[in-house]
Amino acid sequence: MELPTQLEAKLNELLKRYPHKRSALVPMLLYTQDQFGYVSDQMIEEIARRLELNVLQVTETLVYYSMLRREPAGRFHLQVCTNVSCMLRGGYRILEHCQKRLGIGHKGTTPDRRFSLEEVECIGACTGAPAMQVNYDFYENLTPARVDELLEKLHSGVQPPPVPHTSGALHPRHPDELPVISRRFGIPDSCTLKVYRQHDGYKALERALKIKPEEIIEEVKQSNLRGRGGAGFPAGVKWGFVPKETDKPKYVIANADESEPGTCKDRPLMEFDPHQLIEGMLIAARAVDAHQGYIYIRGEYRYVMNILDEAIAEAYEAGYLGKNILGSGFDFELCTHTGAGAYECGEESALMESLEGKRGYPRIRPPFPALVGLYGCPTVINNVETLSSVPAVILKGGKWYASLGTPKNGGTRLFAVSGHVNRPGIYELPMGYNLLKLIEVAGGVANGKKLKAVIPGGSSTPLLKAEECDIAMDFDSLAKAGSMLGSGAVIVLDEDTCMVDVARRIMRFYAHESCGWCIPCREGTAWLRQMLDRFHAGGGRSEDIPLVSELSQNMLGKTFCPLGDAAAMPTISIVKKWRHEFEEHLNGRCPYKPAEVLAGADGK
Ligand SMILES: Cc1cc2nc3c(=O)[nH]c(=O)nc-3n(C[C@H](O)[C@H](O)[C@H](O)COP(=O)(O)O)c2cc1C
Ligand code: SF4
Ligand code: FES
Repeated sequence: MELPTQLEAKLNELLKRYPHKRSALVPMLLYTQDQFGYVSDQMIEEIARRLELNVLQVTETLVYYSMLRREPAGRFHLQVCTNVSCMLRGGYRILEHCQKRLGIGHKGTTPDRRFSLEEVECIGACTGAPAMQVNYDFYENLTPARVDELLEKLHSGVQPPPVPHTSGALHPRHPDELPVISRRFGIPDSCTLKVYRQHDGYKALERALKIKPEEIIEEVKQSNLRGRGGAGFPAGVKWGFVPKETDKPKYVIANADESEPGTCKDRPLMEFDPHQLIEGMLIAARAVDAHQGYIYIRGEYRYVMNILDEAIAEAYEAGYLGKNILGSGFDFELCTHTGAGAYECGEESALMESLEGKRGYPRIRPPFPALVGLYGCPTVINNVETLSSVPAVILKGGKWYASLGTPKNGGTRLFAVSGHVNRPGIYELPMGYNLLKLIEVAGGVANGKKLKAVIPGGSSTPLLKAEECDIAMDFDSLAKAGSMLGSGAVIVLDEDTCMVDVARRIMRFYAHESCGWCIPCREGTAWLRQMLDRFHAGGGRSEDIPLVSELSQNMLGKTFCPLGDAAAMPTISIVKKWRHEFEEHLNGRCPYKPAEVLAGADGK
């Protein structure tokens, strides 16, 4: 089949990228969709032929990924986020406004095929809430008037410039901020190699190439750098599990899937400082003697992927990537790999399945990826923020890095603060910084309201009541308080927030994202979603209240991967701490928000 030249070149390039052809499947499908607006039967056959797969293998993989379409969308595809951070700042109002203005509902297309509309889950723009994407472009801090302006321009066939970068990533520094990994944010052209090198760029790699791999691992262990993806596992310990003697190739993966609602800190790390991540990956690779790396990035972050691709090309050109790096004899190849819409693909084993060109179903563990990972080979997988912290650790020393934080919680953390604060943003502060002070750093609770609650580490973490918020933001302190630091995404809720609504929206997300592999999660999230929707709309019964807790408890620890726990934990905490709000809903209406606010909710 003859394809447009550019697409042909892209597909051919993808074929060379991976040791196993099938890995190219999801990117191939997405680039095909970019070209034609959807993936046709004919293209499925063509891709199957090129990858030596059958049509069924391609189709069953395609339908797993929410960004991939079998039907054409409108010329301008509007994706409006209504997840928690956006909901708190009027996301549903924006969705309803779009629906009214365009005269279409969720997944609808206007008769002239100019517009299509979709309500979506978190797009990684939480500090710019409410937010939407038009095709791949981000529009943030929306109001109905801004939406009108945008639609008018789109009507005339012109797409206005999107937000130039993640909202809230650049701001005057608060005196308490301690910029380590964000220190180049705001420097003009910080994403270029030239500027990176002017600010210590690749000096840590030079050192890492001179010392022994074991010394790198020791330095990282000393730094108390713990995984920033959510679980907080010590990075150096993880690297130490990778076998030294093995005939198999080894891999390093940067997890840039960033889909946990409230989380949008890896996005600026990659858009402002892609070389820092590349350098971190190089050092990790050197430590475990890996020679191939992948940056698995969520499909929605297309412009960020383009920035990374340019930085990778620059690094190759300058001899930081490729063969015999800086004359050391060490080789490392690196490329990006796009996801295509699936929160579950952020879970490390599901990510590897996805990178192998399959559905993102998690794997049984043990064995852990350090022993059996990508293509069955030893693999280091770390979050973008974790890997971006590595150059500073190597350059300034593990002890120095550890001293910035609290015992066993080394360094700094990029906190994405969203929701009801005056200055939603991304703030780099020492590990263990006080949560109440962090809210002040973000300008305090908006509109002079009182604080009601905080989601401290992304939507999967148990909520804290206002009176529990005088707490150190590190892994151990939050665990002691019955919650988690998670991804460091802090969502602030004011006194007017309906906690049943928050529980409802969180569960809606997990029900949508459950991969359906195991019954407690698939059935549990679906039932809970229905119950919480009904409850918030005024149809709750008193016996439902303990049932919500019981159903959640029945998921805890009983699912194949931690997504079941992620759905259960915040729900259990909300019912336990705000039971009275559920009772207040028993009189048939939500005392906080009119139920018609749900009019925009889709039937997912
Ligand atoms: C459902 C689910 C989604 C996840 N999503 C992400 C993600 O988007 N980014 C990430 O870095 N880690 C995510 N994780 C955690 C990863 O499985 C893994 O622990 C992490 O990439 C390890 O890196 P770290 O040790 O540097 O944190 C997710 C975990 C689960 C259970
Ligand atoms: S817990 Fe949920 S997301 Fe994880 S494997 Fe089971 S069904 Fe899939
Ligand atoms: S972008 Fe809407 S919640 Fe993250």
